[in-house]
Amino acid sequence: YPQAFIYDLDGVITDTAEFHFFAWKKLAEELGIFFDRQFNEQLKGISRMDSLDRILNLDPSIPAFSLEEKEKLATRKNEYYLELIEAVDPSHILPGIEALLIENKKANLKVALGSASKNAPAILDKLGLTGYFDYIVDASKVKRGKPDPETFTTAADALGIAYWDCIGIEDAAAGIEALNKAKMFSVGVGDAAHLPHADYLVGNTSELVFEKIIEQYQKKS
Ligand code: G6P
Ligand code: MG
Repeated sequence: YPQAFIYDLDGVITDTAEFHFFAWKKLAEELGIFFDRQFNEQLKGISRMDSLDRILNLDPSIPAFSLEEKEKLATRKNEYYLELIEAVDPSHILPGIEALLIENKKANLKVALGSASKNAPAILDKLGLTGYFDYIVDASKVKRGKPDPETFTTAADALGIAYWDCIGIEDAAAGIEALNKAKMFSVGVGDAAHLPHADYLVGNTSELVFEKIIEQYQKKS
């Protein structure tokens, strides 16, 4: 039986993945760079600076920015993002998520957050969900972001739980890769085209049903 659930935040617990997309798009267009949702899949789960690098790499005619200039651009993106998340409240919790958290607690499982976002603790607070979490990993706690497993292993280590006893939930290809590398059971939220390596895939969060996830986990182990 599993011992812990580790949740990604953006795109799993709440739809802030959309806000990251809008904020990056706005910044990119100001630089004359245009990208679509298909490319945006490659930004999901990726740290702020790495995302900026990926966007700048899209246009070979863009001059090389200094680190200082890049930090300014990343800060500008975050300002756009902060405007968008200002209105986040408990009504922004995605369907099925709070029910799943309640089931986790009923089953005496540990619950952790595994997010690459520096804004993660503030967003959990806005959603009113902080109380469910035994441990929170955000960007400040890890050196190597997803797809490196460090985000998830840091959470499991803090909880004192073996990696194979953890179930992780992710909407990003980089996040599924991180979970698989950590030898955790990976649950993907999205479509098979973007998340081909998930151990168990659901189309959206309302399909995240506790018993079904446990059943799939037990089939694998
Ligand atoms: C999450 C999101 C990414 C975002 C990253 C950093 O992983 O999926 O889209 O770039 O966090 O977020 P931050 O709030 O620190 O800029
Ligand atoms: Mg995500």
